[in-house]
Order: sequence, then structure tokens, then C-alpha cells
Amino acid sequence: MADWSDCLNFGISIAKQASEVVLSGFREQKEVKLKSSPADLVTETDQRVETILISAIRARYPQHRFIGEESVAAGERVHLTDSPTWIIDPIDGTVNFVHGFPLVAISIAFTINKKTEFGIVYSCVEDKMFYAQRGRGAFLNGKALNASGQEDISRCVVVTEIGAERDDLALSTMTSNIFRLLKLPIHGIRALGTAAVDMCQVATGGADAYYHIGMHCWDIAASAIIVQEAGGVVMDTDGSDFDMMSRRVIAASSPAVANRIAEVIQTFPCRRDDEDPGKCICVAAGVNGPQII
Ligand code: IPD
Repeated sequence: MADWSDCLNFGISIAKQASEVVLSGFREQKEVKLKSSPADLVTETDQRVETILISAIRARYPQHRFIGEESVAAGERVHLTDSPTWIIDPIDGTVNFVHGFPLVAISIAFTINKKTEFGIVYSCVEDKMFYAQRGRGAFLNGKALNASGQEDISRCVVVTEIGAERDDLALSTMTSNIFRLLKLPIHGIRALGTAAVDMCQVATGGADAYYHIGMHCWDIAASAIIVQEAGGVVMDTDGSDFDMMSRRVIAASSPAVANRIAEVIQTFPCRRDDEDPGKCICVAAGVNGPQII
């Protein structure tokens, strides 16, 4: 079995270095631009951190490929191949970053043959380095992580996000999902503003489940392997196998909890991350409500 430890260690060290740029911009006034919706933000720091990470990796591993949030926002296609690929979110939690809410993360996943070999989520302000390598366990600042193992949904803390999708269908589905879960009942709902850090809470056992519809592959690719290596399960909201491009995910402490959430929640249409934009019909946010584009 190939050992990607060198790449993992390099990823950890550049995430730490790049976090200095995130931290130095954290308390400052930022110029904010909108992307797909009024809640999908980008700053110069997001773009700068992505450039720093990709340049450093490319210099060391010139054959490797990249899927980066801001490169895709700038027009690159999401095309996951069998080649070694780094999937990067330079700042997961950009809304938090813009507001100075102290949970922001650099998220880096590495795939080969379309399979994730390792994931790194660095929660910069908290100085928490989550990482996992396939078959080798999950860690937080060097200490092994274990999901809670909880099997009873009525004893769960569940994390989710409303996210950047703001059309009527997405909003009504997401708010009614929270209602449905609270009525089961569950112990509580939480939202931290970063999908990557949200999902890592399942790996720590601090939360028992996480679900989200509408996020992207760069938000959750790294944290998915961290949850799995901590003994948790990750799957699609329709109960099928996890597919990082589908824009739907449930991460949970046990199959019982994951399946119960899949039974209770409803979804709304989202264009896959790897779908050719020219070929799809999808629902998008419009100023006057949902539109077909
Ligand atoms: C966002 C965050 C947020 C989630 C959104 C993501 P970004 O990522 O993960 O928690 O709800 O769906 O787009 O834009 O801050 O990298």
C-alpha cells in the first residue's frame, strides 16, 4: 500500500504556515465580494491563501492536480480524476472570517484514484489541527479522536448549517428539517458556520451527527475521512454511499443515527459539483425567488 505520509506532513506544515495569513487578516476590515448568493462571500485573503497553498504544493509535487474553491469560483471546472489531487478550501467559514466569529478553517483533502487518502482541517483561531489518514486513525493536535458511538437519535446533538443556498425551496426545506429533528426529539441543534469544523465535532464525540445539503466538495472532503477514521459513518442524505460531489452529506456516530436522520430530513435539488454547467437544468436563487437556469 502506498504511503502518503510525506504529502500529509507537508499539507499539515503548509496549512500552519498559511494560517498566519488568515490570522493576520482576521480582525481587519475586509473588502468582501459576493459569489453565488448574498451569503456566499469571498475576500482577498481566501484567494491569497489558496494561491499560497497551491503554489507550495505544486513546487514540491509538480504532477499533482487541484480542486480549489476559489479557482472554481474563477471559472475552473471540478474534474476529479485518478491522479493525485488536492482538494482545498482556503478559508472554510468565510462568513465567520468576515465577521470576526472565531471559527475558520483551512481544509485540505488528498485523493488518489478518486479515493481520499488523507484529510486536514486546521481551525486556525483555535489552533486545532484535525487530520486523518486512511486506515491510520484520526487525530486532533496529535491525540486520537473517537466518535461518540451514540445509537439513540433522541440523545443526539446534531450539527447542521443553513449555508449559502437562499432560494425559497432550499430555505423552507432546511428550516423544516431542523423542526422535524427537534420534534423527534433530539437534545439540540448547533451551527458553527464552517462545514469542516462542524463535521470534525462528530469525530471528537462532542456532537453525534452532522448533515448538510448545498455545501461543496472542498468544504467536507477532508472532514469526511476524519469522521470515518474516528469510527463514525459518512453517507449521502438519501442513504446511499457518500459522494463528495453530490452536495449532500450525513456524518454520524453510528449507522443507526445516520439512517434515522436520512429517514427524517428532506432534500432540495443542487447541481453536482462535477456537473457540466452547460448540461444541467437546476434551481437557483434569484432576486424574485427560485428560478430554473
Ligand atoms: C461554507 C461554510 C458554511 C456552509 C456553506 C459553505 P465557505 O464554506 O462551510 O458552513 O454552510 O455551505 O459554502 O464558503 O466558507 O468556504
